[in-house]
Amino acid sequence: MEIKIRPQRISDAEYSWEMRKDKDIWKYAICESPYSPLSLESETNFYREQVELNRCIRFAILADDTYIGNVFIDRIDELACGFGELHTHILNKSYWGKGVGYECNRLILEYAFRIAKMKGIYQYINPSNIAAWKNALKLEFKDLGTSPIRPNVHTFTIKRDQWIKE
Ligand SMILES: CC(C)(COP(=O)(O)OP(=O)(O)OC[C@H]1O[C@@H](n2cnc3c(N)ncnc32)[C@H](O)[C@@H]1OP(=O)(O)O)[C@@H](O)C(=O)NCCC(=O)NCCS
Repeated sequence: MEIKIRPQRISDAEYSWEMRKDKDIWKYAICESPYSPLSLESETNFYREQVELNRCIRFAILADDTYIGNVFIDRIDELACGFGELHTHILNKSYWGKGVGYECNRLILEYAFRIAKMKGIYQYINPSNIAAWKNALKLEFKDLGTSPIRPNVHTFTIKRDQWIKE
C-alpha cells in the first residue's frame, strides 16, 4: 500500500463528513466536541476556514490514492519559535493498524522541518492509545509526561535539530 499526503481540499469535507461519525475515532481525542461539525454544510465551512488559516498545515492522507483521513499541525505559533500541535486522524477505521499512522506522521514531519522550517512539534497522547504512543516513540518524540492542565495525556515533543541529523 502506498501512503501519500497532499494539501487538504475543501471538497474532502464530503468524504470526511461520512467517515467522522464513527465514535471510535474520537475515543482518545482531547478536543471538546469531536463529533461536530454536525452537517455537511458546517463540515465544509470548517474545512474552508482551516484551509485558509496560516497557523495550520493540513494534509489529506491517501492510501493507494484513496482519501482516508487527515494529518495536520495547528496552533503554529511564531512567538513560541514556530512550534505547532500534531493531529493524526485516520477516519476510515479499516486502515488502522497497517502502518499508515506511522508513515503519514513521518511525511508531515519531513514537510514541517525541511520545507516549512518549523522549530518543533508536540502532540498529546492518551497512554491507552497504543498505536499513537508507539509511533511517537518510533519517530523519536520525547515523552515529557503529564501536566496539571492535562493529567490524562502525555505531551510528546520533537525539535527540528532532533529530526534533521545532518
Ligand atoms: C492513532 C492512529 C493515527 C495510529 O495509526 P495506525 O496506522 O492505526 O497505527 P500503526 O499501524 O502505524 O501502528 C503503530 C504501532 O502500534 C501497533 N498497534 C496498532 N494498533 C494497535 C492496537 N490496537 N493495540 C496494540 N498495538 C497496536 C502496531 O502494530 C504498530 O506497532 P509496531 O511499531 O511495533 O509495528 C490511528 O489509529 C487513528 O487515526 N486513530 C483514531 C484517531 C486518534 O486516536 N488519533 C491520535 C490522537 S493522539
